Amino acid sequence: MGFLDKHKALEKNVSLLLVGSLLVVSVGGIVEIAPLFYFQNTIEKVEGMRPYTPLELAGRNIYIREGCYTCHSQMIRPFRDEVERYGQYSLAAESMYDYPFQWGSKRTGPDLARIGGRYSNEWQVQHLTDPRSVVPESIMPSYGFLSKTKLEYENMGAHLKANERFNRVPYTVQQIENAVADVVAQATPDADISGLEERYTYDGRFNVPLGDFDGNPEEITEMDALVAYLQMLGTLVDFSTYVPEDNYR
Ligand code: HEC
Repeated sequence: MGFLDKHKALEKNVSLLLVGSLLVVSVGGIVEIAPLFYFQNTIEKVEGMRPYTPLELAGRNIYIREGCYTCHSQMIRPFRDEVERYGQYSLAAESMYDYPFQWGSKRTGPDLARIGGRYSNEWQVQHLTDPRSVVPESIMPSYGFLSKTKLEYENMGAHLKANERFNRVPYTVQQIENAVADVVAQATPDADISGLEERYTYDGRFNVPLGDFDGNPEEITEMDALVAYLQMLGTLVDFSTYVPEDNYR
């Protein structure tokens, strides 16, 4: 009796098939779950990680609305080729305030987990408006309408509050109450940023991209929010103080 004949017996007997399936699934399950019991923790301690500012959160909402995640991942895997191309591999802590996370599962375009600061605001706007004007072979759609769409930010306090309530993102009462003012302060050149600075300084670092992002200081647009979000991505954790944990001690 060859292997296929033995398998035939399995396929013809429902109970046997059920037992066999359970066996296979539990081996797979144990291999995935058992190592977790030996980790000291799954979210490493880092400095500088902070909840998103209301402008960044608005940009993130646009990123999700426009389906950027269908072509872009936000997770640099701990492999040499990934690290050489994109930089330090992503830590769990870096997506701890992402609800839902944007790790993604498809890379039609490159990973964006460390895109922050890699290009100027002008480049980002030009690329989003007309991708082929800067990368001739690009197949990315254009999003020029974002520069012409005024950002709706009057309700950002409610967005922060919902994240605090349902996702336990540690937004303070001050951050929620001043959400609208903080959008304006972050996106307006030469604005008084003392309040924003006080509310978003973490571990002694005030690490918030500031100014006019879309090239039009007259109006706060969806482009401002999206570019502010992109310029922040991957820049929050202070890697000068980060010590990788040995999880298998
Ligand atoms: C249909 C797939 C697709 C969608 C949807 C898409 N992109 Fe892209 N994106 C690409 C491709 C392909 C590239 C690489 C070529 C290029 O730079 O244009 C790219 C490149 C980029 C880059 C430059 C990355 C680098 O390291 O040089 C950024 C930033 C970017 N996309 C942001 C976005 C944002 C933000 C959205 C949503 C508003 C978006 N993309 C939607 C396919 C896509």
